[in-house]
Amino acid sequence: MNQFTSVNDVQDIGQLVKDALALKESPYAHQHLGKNKTLGLVFLNPSLRTRLSTQKAALNLGMNVMVMNMDKEGWALETQDGIVMDGTTVEHIREAAAVMGQYCDVLGLRSFPKLLNRDEDYNEDFFNKFIKYCKVPVVSLESATRHPLQSLADLVTIKETWKGTAKPKVVLAWAPHIKALPQAVPNSFAEWMCKAQQEGMLDFTIAQPRGYELNVDFTQGAHITNDLDEALAGADYIYVKNWSSYEEYGKVLPFTEGWMLTNDKLKPTNDARVMHCLPVRRDLELSSEILDGPNSLVIHEAGNRLWAAQAVLKQMLEKLI
Ligand code: CP
Repeated sequence: MNQFTSVNDVQDIGQLVKDALALKESPYAHQHLGKNKTLGLVFLNPSLRTRLSTQKAALNLGMNVMVMNMDKEGWALETQDGIVMDGTTVEHIREAAAVMGQYCDVLGLRSFPKLLNRDEDYNEDFFNKFIKYCKVPVVSLESATRHPLQSLADLVTIKETWKGTAKPKVVLAWAPHIKALPQAVPNSFAEWMCKAQQEGMLDFTIAQPRGYELNVDFTQGAHITNDLDEALAGADYIYVKNWSSYEEYGKVLPFTEGWMLTNDKLKPTNDARVMHCLPVRRDLELSSEILDGPNSLVIHEAGNRLWAAQAVLKQMLEKLI
């Protein structure tokens, strides 16, 4: 694997899930792969899970790790070409990415969208320039439009916990929030679940209020509804997540009653397991009774971020050797 920015970079998602679960059994079996190799993690935005799980994954593989909090500790970056840098930006991404590529064998990058201009965010200009100029393999730690390490961990969690014989029904359910959040996590989850559905691993439904439809590029093959109760009927897994509007880009539309998941809403499900990428705002986005109850998978899911990251780094290191 030369880069990991979306499900399209993965040859065989079933095999990658198996690799992650094998690493969970034997975390230190491949330490030789990372010997004398350095992972650089570049953050333009905050992180708890992605930062720690990816560092730990690299250490398990014998790698050295360096973390750069670009937003707080780096020079203000310019991304536009052909301009005179007489404003607030100090260093161009052409030099910054190229220099980091000199120090690292693999780079991870987190860069959230600004949610001001849809075309700008969905062009992934920053990410694409970083990949172009650093000249080493890049792992997405969440871009403007996708969070593939999260989605891989989510698929690992579903495959690991599903004990039924039929395919599980997986529902992505929009949830309320007070802030405008990116579409990266739901886009990516939808993209991975659509791929898993294509491969016969599960059935996938998305439920959201009108006005919160995701970009259709990410939802091909999903059953999509505005009726949460219809979506929840018979559900085995519910993936709760807020996102801002794609159509009215970056907007929080008028509050939509009845979309926060509670134990009462779980009644028509198949005793569904509830997932969330975290961080989560309790009793706004998801009820405490679910988070603290037996149906919650959120801590298990966050734990699997480690094995997802390790499986991806392992495939990259195998290419480098
Ligand atoms: N789920 C997730 O990416 O968490 P962090 O933002 O804390 O890394």
